Amino acid sequence: MALRNIITGDDPILRKTSREVTKFDDRLHQLLDDMKETMDSVNGVGLAAVQVGALRRAIIINVDDENGHIELINPVVTERSEEIQCGQEGCLSFPGETRIVPRPMQATVEAFDRYGEPFTLTGEGLLARAICHETDHLEGQLFYDLAIEDPEEYGCDEIDEYVYVD
Ligand code: CO
Repeated sequence: MALRNIITGDDPILRKTSREVTKFDDRLHQLLDDMKETMDSVNGVGLAAVQVGALRRAIIINVDDENGHIELINPVVTERSEEIQCGQEGCLSFPGETRIVPRPMQATVEAFDRYGEPFTLTGEGLLARAICHETDHLEGQLFYDLAIEDPEEYGCDEIDEYVYVD
């Protein structure tokens, strides 16, 4: 395994659409292992491959629950709850910046594991936020694109206590 540099700031690669993974091979496993080591080194709770310069549809998430590290290859969000959560969100690619971002309270994602086996994952709260933030990265969308000023407009009476930083 090896640490990789996390791309920060206005690097145009963060705006690019990542490509579908077609080979579930050693190279993909190396990328995922490196992403895990890199994310853990900065205590992140999520990381998209594009953030280490690989335009592949691969993300990892660890919200410190019973799932541990979750690897999602070619993830597609298939369901978003109507109920919304509002919380502070940041991004490892934009250190120190946080904004209030509304996200669905619950999200379901279909993806493949590193061996190409399909699975479905439903997350609530922080996990739902992580699924949305990381899959957005694959489309070149960044958290501050979705930031809001007034949470009450979105039916959010309160802001979640945690701060999400991928
Ligand atoms: Co991010």
